[in-house]
Amino acid sequence: MNKQTVRDIDVDGRRVLVRVDYNVPIDDDGSIADDFRIEASLPTLKYLLDKNCTLTVVSHLGRPEPGKLKESESLKPTAERLSELLGEAVDFRTDIKDSAPGEHRIVMLENLRGWAGEEENSEEFAKQLAAFGEILVQDAFAVVHREHASLVGVAALLPAVSGLLVEKEVDTIVKAMESPDRPMGAIIGGAKIADKIELLDELNKKADMLIIGGAMANTFLQDENFGGFEIGSSLFEPGEEKTLAKLAEDFKQSGTKIVLPTKDVAVGHGVDDETREEVPTDHVAHQQWILDIGKNSLSEIKKALEPAKTVVWNGPLGYIENSAFAWASIELAKWLAASDKFVVIGGGDTAEFIDEAGLHDSFTHVSTGGGASLTLMSGQSLPGVEALLDKN
Ligand code: 3PG
Repeated sequence: MNKQTVRDIDVDGRRVLVRVDYNVPIDDDGSIADDFRIEASLPTLKYLLDKNCTLTVVSHLGRPEPGKLKESESLKPTAERLSELLGEAVDFRTDIKDSAPGEHRIVMLENLRGWAGEEENSEEFAKQLAAFGEILVQDAFAVVHREHASLVGVAALLPAVSGLLVEKEVDTIVKAMESPDRPMGAIIGGAKIADKIELLDELNKKADMLIIGGAMANTFLQDENFGGFEIGSSLFEPGEEKTLAKLAEDFKQSGTKIVLPTKDVAVGHGVDDETREEVPTDHVAHQQWILDIGKNSLSEIKKALEPAKTVVWNGPLGYIENSAFAWASIELAKWLAASDKFVVIGGGDTAEFIDEAGLHDSFTHVSTGGGASLTLMSGQSLPGVEALLDKN
């Protein structure tokens, strides 16, 4: 990374403001359903504690209305979990005006988005936050694509460096995208082409083979440039003809190998149908919905990816919310996990199902950020990283 990290500056004994992303799922009873992001912040926090720093840890949770924070939007459960994981007390503070050192060496503030100013990147709010530290350590990778006060505003007021998570996320994703060991393969799923058009364009320039799955594949399949298949009642995006014609032309020019599930697909009668039926892609009946890819299409995908040394994956291949249609995504994940390829998994939905499949530790990297990893993979800049001090 061309930005300074926490290892590049002298932090010994300093007061440090640490921005983390503890936007984690919390159940109604206050228990944390998945603490992956809290775990991911520990190396930086432990590094700073080992250097005798005192910390103020800040994060957002959800999208509350400023001034009207509900109990379910409080970060208190994450402060308790952090305290358990570190084995030391965390002072939880709801008053942002009280920046005095706490009784213990770790203070954690309430949900930043509960105050007006965070999302607007207000200077006044940034100043209040800056009072909590002499240095800003930015470790909230999952939100660095936002231009908020704790990401950009504070970095203009304090010397700002990345934490170890932000460094690892950026370095690994940039390595996979900019200097991959070739061949490089990419798997793109999800619902909408519009959400991932920049990524498709970027991968067209960078990947040697591009696998397209998810509901997005339906939009490709029904288009005349990509086979003009009958897709029955499947979800697809109408009105994308021009985008698809341009993509078809770009793919032809670049020579990137495109793999769509043209052999077979798994269908149901609506998203809640638990009966999975596999049919040839050119035999989808009017009332059927394509909800996953079939065995033969999966074999094609594996064959295409076999020579790849690097693989980036953003978006599941099927409708994973229904376990009957999570099959191909899980099979592909297991196959990749057993390989020695450099595999980078984008955050959000993709990371979630990888976690549920118990495969989290089987890849080179599973990103903690959905929108942030998509932004970075798409070749766009991350304001929260741009704001950090440059390497000398
Ligand atoms: C995430 O969960 O993707 C991040 O915490 C960012 O959240 P946001 O989309 O509400 O900014």
